[in-house]
Amino acid sequence: MIDLTFTEEHEMIRETARDFAQNVLAKSAAERDENEKFFPEELKQLGELGFCGIFVPEKYKGAGMDSIAYIIALEEISKVDASVGVVLSVTNSLFGYPLLVYGTEEQKHKYLAPTAAGEKLGGFMLTEPEAGSDAAAQKTTAVRDGDYYIINGSKNFITSGLSADYFVLTTMSDKSKGVHGTTAFILEGDAPGVIKGVKEKKLGIRSSDTCSVTFEDVRIPAENRIGEEGMGFKVAMTALDSGRMGIAAQALGIAQGALEEAVKYSKIRHQFGRPIAKFQGIQFKLADMETRIQAARLLTFQAAVKKDRGERFTNEVAMAKLYASETANWVADQALQIHGGYGYTKEYAVERFFRDARITTIYEGTSEIQRLVISSYLLKD
Ligand code: CAA
Repeated sequence: MIDLTFTEEHEMIRETARDFAQNVLAKSAAERDENEKFFPEELKQLGELGFCGIFVPEKYKGAGMDSIAYIIALEEISKVDASVGVVLSVTNSLFGYPLLVYGTEEQKHKYLAPTAAGEKLGGFMLTEPEAGSDAAAQKTTAVRDGDYYIINGSKNFITSGLSADYFVLTTMSDKSKGVHGTTAFILEGDAPGVIKGVKEKKLGIRSSDTCSVTFEDVRIPAENRIGEEGMGFKVAMTALDSGRMGIAAQALGIAQGALEEAVKYSKIRHQFGRPIAKFQGIQFKLADMETRIQAARLLTFQAAVKKDRGERFTNEVAMAKLYASETANWVADQALQIHGGYGYTKEYAVERFFRDARITTIYEGTSEIQRLVISSYLLKD
């Protein structure tokens, strides 16, 4: 059983995240979304507050907290601005976690510490035009050349592709070995031969930037290899286990934000001579929204508890990500419905929540991939 007693530290991080979200992020979230505007200043402040390396030990300039704290913080931030939520999730999890697990001491000091402190931003490059759900089908090559590896190929849909400084990059170093022929590296984003594409035009999370990246004879020092040759897929999957927890928390934030807007609106909107909150049709919707969010939150905390115990949490986090992301979409849809025609306009935040929710069932493994992971545990001999 999981013990969900929050510590003073958890309450403190909740309060700090909520304050920052309400007092700093809220006033310009809609404008950032409209203008696809990144947020370096806000990220710097989040770094100073410890939000860029929440579970990274203090000796690597992190906040040294647990995964429950991570979920609490990401939910509070995403409740106000889900674009900031995903950028934090990627730098904490997809970049930071594999370095924490597989990185050398030198790599941790050189690359993890500055990202944990928020002085630099981390990203993750796995997806390719022909390797989305089938991540093992990646074609970007890494060929050893003395003390370097030469990288050629391309990646796409890279979150923070334009803004991040350092990336965890996975490559195919020996095609004949399939997933066991993949190798991961730390890539410096401004290395010669790294060519960034244009910023993608997206439906939601519009203030986080996404782009494709091409590699033309990029030289990465061998000391930047993460783990051994052939371990790249494992490194990527380990990163994604932690990443999916971040996306579950982001989805929780979107859902909670949409629910709070719906509650508020249903009390002030009058139809048929009374607030619409007085109608059972609305009350039942709100009750179902709250119940599903709470169930998603418990699943996410369950995955966090297993992670912090040092146990494998792949199955638990797949369930959390699946349920939280589907809940975010459903709740945002219900919240928009409660707002009626007004909810379809940019005057109300539910319109943004509805758009931002949509990606959560797609990135870091679609809902279909999460179901494959979960059923593989059920069907295992
Ligand atoms: N941890 C450690 N090792 C793992 C692992 C995990 N979670 N999952 C798999 N592995 C290991 C397996 O044990 C296996 O190793 P052995 O052969 O030594 O036993 C090896 O990896 C291969 O595993 P599978 O046979 O299960 O691999 P597969 O090719 O069938 O793929 C998959 C499995 C679950 C479908 C995987 O490809 C997957 O997760 N696909 C989705 C990709 C994804 O999530 N992409 C997200 C992109 S990043 C992103 O979206 C970021 C963003 O924008 C915010």
